[in-house]
Amino acid sequence: MGHILQAKGIHKSYTMGKQTLTVLRGVEMSLSAGDFAVIIGASGSGKSTLLHILGALDKPDKGTIEFEGQRLDQMSNGRLNQFRNQNVGFVFQFYHLLDELNVLENVLLPAMIAAGPVGWLQCKKNVQNKAISLLERMGLNDRLPHKPYELSGGERQRAAIARALINGPRLLLADEPTGNLDSKTGHGILEVLNELNQQGQTILMVTHDDRIARQAGRVIKLSDGKIVS
Ligand SMILES: Nc1ncnc2c1ncn2[C@@H]1O[C@H](COP(=O)(O)OP(=O)(O)OP(=O)(O)O)[C@@H](O)[C@H]1O
Ligand SMILES: [Mg+2]
Repeated sequence: MGHILQAKGIHKSYTMGKQTLTVLRGVEMSLSAGDFAVIIGASGSGKSTLLHILGALDKPDKGTIEFEGQRLDQMSNGRLNQFRNQNVGFVFQFYHLLDELNVLENVLLPAMIAAGPVGWLQCKKNVQNKAISLLERMGLNDRLPHKPYELSGGERQRAAIARALINGPRLLLADEPTGNLDSKTGHGILEVLNELNQQGQTILMVTHDDRIARQAGRVIKLSDGKIVS
């Protein structure tokens, strides 16, 4: 199968005042359609930084990223936002759900953004049905009108996964999605991700957990700003 993502010579530094911290020093990696790959590395090694760059949340200082043949490193910020909304789903350690919205509304939000105000009126019904069926698949059918703060951690993460999938992303990125959960609940989230991957979803996940990394199809290790294995 073809490459979904190909990154070459990725460099990234952060400057704070007079200090410059170089985080990525020439990362080379690629991801094929259908992969479930895991990024590991010490705390501060740049795992989240790399994930954000690959998911069009941030830009590299140097290097090229091709996502399905499109050059992310050359896109304007506006185009990058649109590209991300349509092609990438994100799952974070602390869920990042909006407490003002209920579970169903949280899942609908990325689709509303993608459709725009006029388009939304036309596709609302279909998207609502899709959101409900995603939430059913995540075992949250009886939680639709609840606010995120009324849910357990595992339920919040499953709602966040449904939100990440609503626009049918080509790539699902997860940054320590089990990092804030007890091991049993975390295992349930991994099962959900494994099942999605078996159905064809390409996934790239950051984890601290060696046990999870050992189970992964592919392990990408970051050290000194480069991929070492
Ligand atoms: N916006 C920023 N401004 C300045 N420095 C940053 C910024 N984001 C990250 N850094 C620094 O870059 C380095 C890499 O951060 P990053 O979050 O990518 O690491 P990580 O591998 O994800 O770590 P962890 O396992 O703890 O999540 C860290 O030293 C961090 O302090
Ligand atoms: Mg991180």
